[in-house]
Amino acid sequence: MKHTQFTDNNGSFSVEHPENTSYLYFPLASEKGLKSCVTPILGGDSKLDQETFLLEPVSSENLHSNRATRNFWLKSDDGRITSITGASDEQESRKFTPDQEKCILHAGFMWHCLERTSSAPALKLRIVSFVPWNNNVEIMHIAIQNQSEKVQNLTPYAAIPIYGRSADNLRDHRNVTSMLHRVETEANGITVCPTMSFDERGHRKNHTVYYVYGFSSLGQKPERFYPTVEKFIGEGGSYTHPRAVYESFNGVPCGTSVAGKEAIGAFAFPEISLDPGQGIQYAILLGADTDRDEIRKIYEEYSSVEKIQAALDETIRYWAEKVNVTFHTGNPDQDMFMKWVCFQPYLRRIYGCSFLPHHDYGRGGRGWRDLWQDCLSLLLMDPQNVGKMIENNYGGVRIDGTNATIIGNGEGNFIADRNNITRVWMDHALWPLITTQLYIDQTGDIDILNRKVPYFKDAQTERGRLRDQLWSSEQGNKQMTQADVIYKGSILEHLLIQQLSAFYEIGEHNIYRLRDADWNDALDMAPDRGESVAFTCAYAGNLRNLARMIRLLEAYSGQSETELLYEIQILLGHDRALYDSISRKSEILHKYVKSCRHTISGQRFLISYASLASDLELKAEWLTEHIRNQEWICGQENEGWFNSYYDNHGQAVERYSKKPGDVRMMLTGQVFAIMGQVASPQQIRQIVTGADRYLYRKDIGGYRLNTDFQELKFDMGRMFGFAYGEKENGAVFSHMTVMFAYALYQRGFAREGWKALRTLADTALDFDTSHIYPGIPEYFRSDGRGMYHYLTGAASWFMLTMITQVFGVRGEAGNLLMEPKLTAEQFDETGTASVQLTFAGKEFTVTYINSEHKEYGNYITGSATCNQAYLKIDSPNYTVLSRETIIALPSRNNHIVIHLV
Ligand code: G1P
Repeated sequence: MKHTQFTDNNGSFSVEHPENTSYLYFPLASEKGLKSCVTPILGGDSKLDQETFLLEPVSSENLHSNRATRNFWLKSDDGRITSITGASDEQESRKFTPDQEKCILHAGFMWHCLERTSSAPALKLRIVSFVPWNNNVEIMHIAIQNQSEKVQNLTPYAAIPIYGRSADNLRDHRNVTSMLHRVETEANGITVCPTMSFDERGHRKNHTVYYVYGFSSLGQKPERFYPTVEKFIGEGGSYTHPRAVYESFNGVPCGTSVAGKEAIGAFAFPEISLDPGQGIQYAILLGADTDRDEIRKIYEEYSSVEKIQAALDETIRYWAEKVNVTFHTGNPDQDMFMKWVCFQPYLRRIYGCSFLPHHDYGRGGRGWRDLWQDCLSLLLMDPQNVGKMIENNYGGVRIDGTNATIIGNGEGNFIADRNNITRVWMDHALWPLITTQLYIDQTGDIDILNRKVPYFKDAQTERGRLRDQLWSSEQGNKQMTQADVIYKGSILEHLLIQQLSAFYEIGEHNIYRLRDADWNDALDMAPDRGESVAFTCAYAGNLRNLARMIRLLEAYSGQSETELLYEIQILLGHDRALYDSISRKSEILHKYVKSCRHTISGQRFLISYASLASDLELKAEWLTEHIRNQEWICGQENEGWFNSYYDNHGQAVERYSKKPGDVRMMLTGQVFAIMGQVASPQQIRQIVTGADRYLYRKDIGGYRLNTDFQELKFDMGRMFGFAYGEKENGAVFSHMTVMFAYALYQRGFAREGWKALRTLADTALDFDTSHIYPGIPEYFRSDGRGMYHYLTGAASWFMLTMITQVFGVRGEAGNLLMEPKLTAEQFDETGTASVQLTFAGKEFTVTYINSEHKEYGNYITGSATCNQAYLKIDSPNYTVLSRETIIALPSRNNHIVIHLV
């Protein structure tokens, strides 16, 4: 089993011969928006957004075939030719006999370094690729060293095809769009400025200039240019056998213009003569901007190899500081793995859910669910602006409890649904509450619940079932009152509307309707009769948590009442008898959504916090009992689980069967039954036994999302069309597995939770199985390969679980609570485990010392100090540092030491 080799304390790693593993790619991006990815031969692409691809967009399957990509060639005076990226016909043909050429990759956050040693000619070659954190330019910094005893004469060629247009043009007028290209050769390299952006809905003048520039450490500039693909590869040539290099074509001089051809940033530098041991460096800058002055400035900023080295150092520092969480446990590799997990939320913020080779869908945005969940990691690493972000995000909630799903650029910018495909994901109301709760706990800012924000308005009304014929886009995207003013309600009111409207939208089993899907986007074929028990459980948990927040608000605000929109009254104050009645509940929902179909009254009524909270608690209790009574499936002795769904025929989707292979079990229902406190401790034990029997596979990441249903199930969703073990159909889907762990920890099942997390980490780090660089992939498929690497909500949840559950370092109404749930194996040989993080703007190291190596459950807190001052121990399980104490602490180097006995 080949493990990933880490090389420092910041997660940097190396891999030998990465080119011999398929599907590898690595992200390089700037905070300003340039998003590149590179493969071990520097394939991959680079873009600013969907419309602005500098390099040709690639999907995962292009990774083995596409060679229309970054290359740098050396031609020796004896005619031998070397591609520093390894992408020449000769090098590719001998790459599985690596003795002739050694290749090793070193990489860390946003930098990627390939080192190659070739024996004939004897050269040591290195390409460092990175994107400076603060500029939209990708830099290739190349170093060449003569390793022979003789002088070597070499002619270097850069060759980077410039795609320069929208990803849509890949199969929408690829050739026609090349006719728009205007290519110039300049002193520093090649630029392409297409005349217009091709779009049959309306062509627009293009202002974006794409460029590839280069220079050497001796100050040399390109000498001969090959600005079009045809000129560079030559008739019948290819990217791995470009005739311009092999046959030393003349090229064209600086100052040449070419129109209407596929472009390439290809140019030759003057021949160099290297003495034995002597080296030379080159830099290639590639990027795109609408402002030529900006491009000049960028060139200036990186116009020497020294400046480039300084920019690389700064970029490495920048990202190392951003990932300001450090774990120390008995397993240093897992600690480094966590560095990548903590880095991934930044990647998702930059790349959205698009723009890496597996993520060849979407146009760059993030969905509603992702928007909220990505806030979780920000709250732990970079919480400054999260409060404002949360406030803005609530502006996407509609008055009927659904929300906008098209998210525009900039915070709080939600776009109306313009077509008639209105989809309602029934889980959407769940995530805002989870995030807001963490926000309040971490910051103590309970008052956020009182802040007033508008509601989103578009033509969708009555929870996506009707179009509001009275609405037109001129009226704007904010909910208006009958008096034609924008209505604003408290965040608490938004939360109540979301939770309560969901409570009344039930199907024939008195379970929340599935609508067009829940968290599992691929459960999209049961809109009529489908029900999600899984998310009904999750919402039961939400109701309880909202009640807790309301009680906290009451305690802190000193007030006993709040004002709510008049129309909501109908959703409050009922009893169990009504909850039992499907028809009465549906009627209530109908009345409510009808009352706010177009405008609302804007009137308010007063209600006490206490009655609101107990109303929500009653609903949660009713749901719990109802689900426990109706949905529990008994398996073999000591095992059982909850049915997670009803299909479009109204049938329960899960079952126990004595026939081998006939058991149907899904993880989702179990996760939320545990998290939502629907499952009793006894039931949790039975669920774990069942999950271990039917879902767990140690060698491929652990808990799979479901058993093999061996049926297409057109009455449930596209997931059943996927091969078993892929994505939402039975893969080890990291996000759900991590939430399983989170839920288990929350309920005190630490060893069980750790088993789920650890198996994910171990599999990811087992390079021969996962075939990925360190980090958590979206899922592990049935042979254990890590898929859809980097951009996944699993990362935020993994961090959240490790910090707030495993290490138990979390906010509680703004105070800092430390409640470790570490298992014995997580302490190092001295019995120490620690986490470094920021809380309330202060840097902390929390160290647990378990010198007797006791197992979780057998230790209690013996003593605790903060900066060597003893803390009062109120409970055997946890220690609390009050907000006031924290505020008085210095901003850095605070050390809390807790002895476990
Ligand atoms: C992805 C989506 C997420 C969705 C999930 C299951 O998960 O981003 O919104 O809920 O698939 O369909 P992720 O990439 O976050 O792991």
